[in-house]
Amino acid sequence: MVKICCIGAGYVGGPTMAVIALKCPSIEVAVVDISVARITAWNSDQLPIYEPGLDEVVKQCRGKNLFFSTNVEKHVSEADIIFVSVNTPTKTRGLGAGKAADLTYWESAARMIADVSKSDKIVVEKSTVPVKTAEAIEKILTHNSKGINYQILSNPEFLAEGTAIEDLFSPDRVLIGGRETPDGQRAIKALKDVYAHWVPEDRIICTNLWSAELSKLAANAFLAQRISSVNAMSALCEATGADVSQVSHAIGKDTRIGPKFLNSSVGFGGSCFQKDILNLVYICECNSLTEVANYWKQVIKVNDYQKSRFVNRVVSSMFNTVSGKKIAILGFAFKKDTGDTRETPAIDVCNGLLGDKAWLSIYDPQVTEDQIQRDLAMKKFDWDHPVHLQPMSPTSVKQVTVVWDAYEATKNAHGLCILTEWDEFKSLDFQRIFDNMQKPAFVFDGRNVVNADKLREIGFIVYSIGKPLDPWLKDMPAMA
Ligand code: UDX
Ligand code: UDX
Ligand code: ADP
Repeated sequence: MVKICCIGAGYVGGPTMAVIALKCPSIEVAVVDISVARITAWNSDQLPIYEPGLDEVVKQCRGKNLFFSTNVEKHVSEADIIFVSVNTPTKTRGLGAGKAADLTYWESAARMIADVSKSDKIVVEKSTVPVKTAEAIEKILTHNSKGINYQILSNPEFLAEGTAIEDLFSPDRVLIGGRETPDGQRAIKALKDVYAHWVPEDRIICTNLWSAELSKLAANAFLAQRISSVNAMSALCEATGADVSQVSHAIGKDTRIGPKFLNSSVGFGGSCFQKDILNLVYICECNSLTEVANYWKQVIKVNDYQKSRFVNRVVSSMFNTVSGKKIAILGFAFKKDTGDTRETPAIDVCNGLLGDKAWLSIYDPQVTEDQIQRDLAMKKFDWDHPVHLQPMSPTSVKQVTVVWDAYEATKNAHGLCILTEWDEFKSLDFQRIFDNMQKPAFVFDGRNVVNADKLREIGFIVYSIGKPLDPWLKDMPAMA
């Protein structure tokens, strides 16, 4: 029986291994983590991450061929294939601070593998890492090998949160990179055999190590660039009276462009896009490719611009001040159907409004108060460290309250901002909300989820990203 061990029971490791266990009953899968709390949660009815469909998959395999454990060394030493899916934060100090990936967790995992292994291993990079990380890991392992043969593969994960299970069940492609030696090719074949249990062969792409590593950064950079492109258009639409949804629809009909990933928003978030682009920029700079680095930097600049443009719009619409005003924030997660807040645009928007002395009442169906308070108190780039290393009792931000209901959040508020596209926000009783708000009552829709015309009939002043401006807002130009 093939044994697989995955180091890191996070958003990538947990769901990916659960699906491998489900699709490959003949393979034993152990997911290990240094966080006792995370492993306890994986072994309970309350999984540590919210992901549609995940509970069912875990229930079907847990205790049969899927195990969650803190006994990292035992499972690593027994495994034939080891996936490494640990945190790769952006460095906050030293060389490459603010750009380069911090490989501390990766390196410590690699050294531990070298310490405890007694048989040959295939070590698979699952977390996104800078190009040539595999080479560094290979060096650590082979210099400590005690005669053991290690084959390093890069097998980047392309799942998106909120649709992780769907994405894993039928991936657009699976990418496996390895050495072009006979041993390297054998390792690629072994991993390919795992995926071949459910993924059609023509969707499994095999490349060299560097191509696989770079493809992951490139894919995320291209996706993020699409959003910054449409968001840049949204600013122009507002200035000229065009409607960004109509523009997206029209350009998406061109098969060379395609209709997906063209929704204008308050900005992209999530653990990957910004981090991977910063990484790409750093690699370009290290190779003296200044023009290429500048090109990709612009994707992040436009994303930051979109968030501050939104804050400016809120403040300028409300008579140039939100000081002492209650503002409801509906949605805090970086997208719908996840409780994940890593790099969510809501953090920057909330901090912008707090900077202008607003009082915030925040509601998100999946994010806890503790998480929100922690996010708003945290420094940039500090989020991607294992849970147990984060401050346990954050200083609570007094200007912020977190509530469990959209009606509570909006009661007596001057304005409401929609920052995540949760489906439930579409069917709120906006007449009831209007009746309980201060007047004039403002809606700032950062995800284009509400029917602006209907809300205007109720009496709201509505701002929708990239849409022709409400006459009220035209008279109060945002100070971009
Ligand atoms: C992304 C990639 O899609 C995935 O392939 C990779 O493995 C990890 O990074 P994820 O971050 O989970 O996945 O979510 P994604 O759906 O890509 O959304 C990222 C951000 O872009 C979210 O904040 C989302 O709201 C925003 N977005 C997405 C838009 O603003 N508009 C869109 O049209 C699509
Ligand atoms: C373009 C648009 O495609 C068309 O819809 C619009 O009406 C007019 O502008 P055209 O300029 O005729 O059409 O040719 P196109 O095939 O788009 O190529 C434009 C340039 O991009 C060419 O120099 C082409 O060689 C280059 N190109 C295109 C690439 O370098 N790589 C590609 O993958 C595609
Ligand atoms: P991702 O979104 O890439 O899955 P997460 O932050 O959700 O990232 O998960 C990474 C996990 O890796 C965390 O649960 C963290 O505790 C774990 N981890 C980090 N370093 C190690 C290590 N050396 N050994 C075991 N687990 C680790």
